[in-house]
Amino acid sequence: MDLFHFPRWTNRIRLLLPPMAIGGGLYAVCLVAFGASPDTLAVGYAPKQPIPYSHRLHAGELGIDCRYCHQNVENSAHASLPATATCMNCHAKVKTESPLLSLLRESADTGVAIPWVKVHDLPDHVFFNHSAHVTRGVGCVECHGRVDKMEVVEQVEPLSMGWCLDCHRNPDDIMRPVDQVTNMVWTAPEGGVDPADLREVNPSTSCSTCHR
Ligand code: HEC
Ligand code: HEC
Ligand code: HEC
Ligand code: HEC
Ligand code: HEC
Repeated sequence: MDLFHFPRWTNRIRLLLPPMAIGGGLYAVCLVAFGASPDTLAVGYAPKQPIPYSHRLHAGELGIDCRYCHQNVENSAHASLPATATCMNCHAKVKTESPLLSLLRESADTGVAIPWVKVHDLPDHVFFNHSAHVTRGVGCVECHGRVDKMEVVEQVEPLSMGWCLDCHRNPDDIMRPVDQVTNMVWTAPEGGVDPADLREVNPSTSCSTCHR
């Protein structure tokens, strides 16, 4: 008996294989392009967080500066999220019995970080750098909106390539003095900002700036 003799009809499968491979490739591309994006790269995305931390209360009402918690935003690519200890600077004394803060207290006791859910998330093939923007005078509000009014953080801009490029081609209207980058309500004075208060910028539009 010939073990390697396949019935004649299997020949047809071999003919089908190349189209299937192409189909599979397309499927993978679509999966990446559409499947992954609605969740993370969509305007309006506002995932529930493990602690109901409110920017409206802390950054808005209490007026805590963004950099108190997002400490690396001026000097690195990533803004970084606050460590539990940063929250405990206050919550070791404020609202110590609050059930809303039980996970925070547990994290302080065990050293296990709070599993905050990412809101903004560019694809891995894109390089973004906070420091390059913040230290030149692009305000947080240009890209994140009125975070000081958000009970839950929400993505307000598409973060698409077209969106990045629109500003890189014409940044002049949005530039502000560097000491105002975290001010959510800053507006240019009547007659425009004194050019002496602005950094001169020339954002690149070449592919390798954002794709490395
Ligand atoms: C007291 C600490 C604190 C302050 C002050 C603060 N934040 Fe946050 N921020 C957090 C924490 C904690 C998270 C993660 C949980 C969440 O998304 O709400 C966060 C998340 C964010 C995110 C979403 C991050 C992501 O996953 O994409 C943005 C954007 C943000 N903050 C911007 C700001 C801006 C702008 C300011 C100033 C107006 C500010 N924050 C002030 C603590 C703070
Ligand atoms: C500079 C001080 C300060 C820091 C830092 C701070 N908080 Fe608060 N937080 C407060 C104050 C004040 C209140 C409001 C207390 C009140 O309602 O009287 C509050 C309220 C809260 C509440 C609501 C509690 C309740 O029972 O109503 C939560 C949740 C909370 N904070 C989470 C956090 C988290 C998480 C962090 C760190 C990312 C943080 N806070 C950092 C001062 C702070
Ligand atoms: C030019 C647009 C732009 C500006 C200005 C900007 N951000 Fe962001 N921010 C982004 C993008 C894009 C992401 C997602 C980055 C990623 O997925 O790699 C992000 C992510 C974040 C995150 C999540 C952690 C991280 O680094 O990925 C925090 C927190 C944050 N921004 C806070 C701030 C604060 C605070 C300011 C102002 C001091 C600010 N951002 C200014 C575009 C901006
Ligand atoms: C609101 C305006 C604005 C938006 C939106 C914006 N940028 Fe920028 N970007 C700038 C400015 C201004 C600079 C500083 C250029 C300089 O220093 O001459 C810059 C600089 C950079 C740099 C540093 C390299 C360089 O050109 O000096 C990178 C990388 C970058 N941007 C990537 C991005 C990406 C990726 C996005 C979209 C996710 C984005 N930017 C969205 C305004 C913006
Ligand atoms: C200022 C930043 C920036 C520059 C410059 C830039 N890109 Fe992009 N690019 C992005 C961002 C952000 C995305 C992700 C968009 C998304 O996921 O919605 C992207 C996505 C892409 C993709 C994936 C397909 C897609 O649309 O999501 C390709 C391919 C691409 N860029 C090619 C290029 C080429 C070629 C150049 C030069 C002509 C270039 N990019 C310049 C920011 C940039």
